[in-house]
Amino acid sequence: MREKNLFDLLVDISENKTQQTKLAQPARQPATMESLAAEVAGCVRCSLRLGACQVVFGEGNPQAKLLFVGDVPGADEDRQGIPFAGASGQLLNKILAAAEIKRDEIYLANAIKCRPPQDRKPQPEEVAVCRGHLQQQIELISPAIIVCLGSLAAQTLASSSARANVLRGRWFELKGIRLMPTFHPAELLLDPAKKKSVWQDIQKVRDAYRLLTF
Ligand code: URA
Repeated sequence: MREKNLFDLLVDISENKTQQTKLAQPARQPATMESLAAEVAGCVRCSLRLGACQVVFGEGNPQAKLLFVGDVPGADEDRQGIPFAGASGQLLNKILAAAEIKRDEIYLANAIKCRPPQDRKPQPEEVAVCRGHLQQQIELISPAIIVCLGSLAAQTLASSSARANVLRGRWFELKGIRLMPTFHPAELLLDPAKKKSVWQDIQKVRDAYRLLTF
């Protein structure tokens, strides 16, 4: 039997249940974030790369204790090659500032690294391929806390089919990493009433993060 990896065990602390995830073991772990980025830049394991300007790998502090994972790059991210570069990113910046968390002290990545054509929903096979890249990123960063922004990020990391409105606001544990699902900033732009919930979730994250950093 193979050794368990990061994603094999998901413990919902709130309910104290364990769930086996369906993730496969990545083939081999690149030694550094730069070598992983180079590898992902050349990935053609699904068709998304063909329609995208570039791979949006992620950015930030590779030793961050706090990782934010979004869903897919949009037009701005595809053009600039950095995650959360557009309107959602502006709102995320405000949320981070309100929590007194600097963007350059955290790491930002997406569950999907290439913008889907016409911003369509990624197919399950595309999510599965890119999950391997995210898994390798997480193993290299080794964060203490991951914030999942939106349903795709939460579903990818929690191997759950539940949406963010069900998963949000509760701590999960992913092999020693605390996981907080919350709404995606784009959802807040469409429905500002959700801001209150996100702020509650981010305050929990901020408090847990402060305990690590002070
Ligand atoms: N939404 C995301 O989830 N990620 C981005 O990088 C931009 C928008």
